[in-house]
Amino acid sequence: MAIRTVLKMGDPRLLKVADKVGKFGTPELNMLIQDMHDTMEALNGAGLAAPQIGVSLQVVIFGAKHNPRYPDAEEVPYTVLANPLLTPLAQEMEQDWEGCLSVPGLRGMVPRFTRLRYQGLDQYGKPIDRSVGGFHARVVQHECDHLQGILYPMRITDFRMFGFTEVLFPGQTPMDE
Ligand code: NI
Repeated sequence: MAIRTVLKMGDPRLLKVADKVGKFGTPELNMLIQDMHDTMEALNGAGLAAPQIGVSLQVVIFGAKHNPRYPDAEEVPYTVLANPLLTPLAQEMEQDWEGCLSVPGLRGMVPRFTRLRYQGLDQYGKPIDRSVGGFHARVVQHECDHLQGILYPMRITDFRMFGFTEVLFPGQTPMDE
């Protein structure tokens, strides 16, 4: 168990395409996922991808519990997803605010597919196949982008909607992904 350092935008390791996981249920993979979990919890994040802690593997974790401070925010079950495949279920895209643990202190308006199917494997190699929408779909797209070396600012279409969290949302601490 360890809280790892999250790489920040500008680090070339965040721009690499991550390798697929080949072996599941190994001590190394379990330790990586435990470290990712501890790091996400410590930073109050809604998601984290392995490349953000310098490991170039196709592993993401995400999840959001109900928070009384944000009653409208949807609950997302804690999920470990490896080797993901995303398929949009609607061509429709929706803009909403995102933040990222690798881009601290900033938030931007990012277009994402409103509904999608995601497939992949959990940390033991068991298949995952879900169709989701809303915030759940958004966080999956954000995390899986990290595996392709894409950070959310690269998706912003209107840079007037990009700024400092403390200015955009005074007195609030929205979750980063
Ligand atoms: Ni992120």
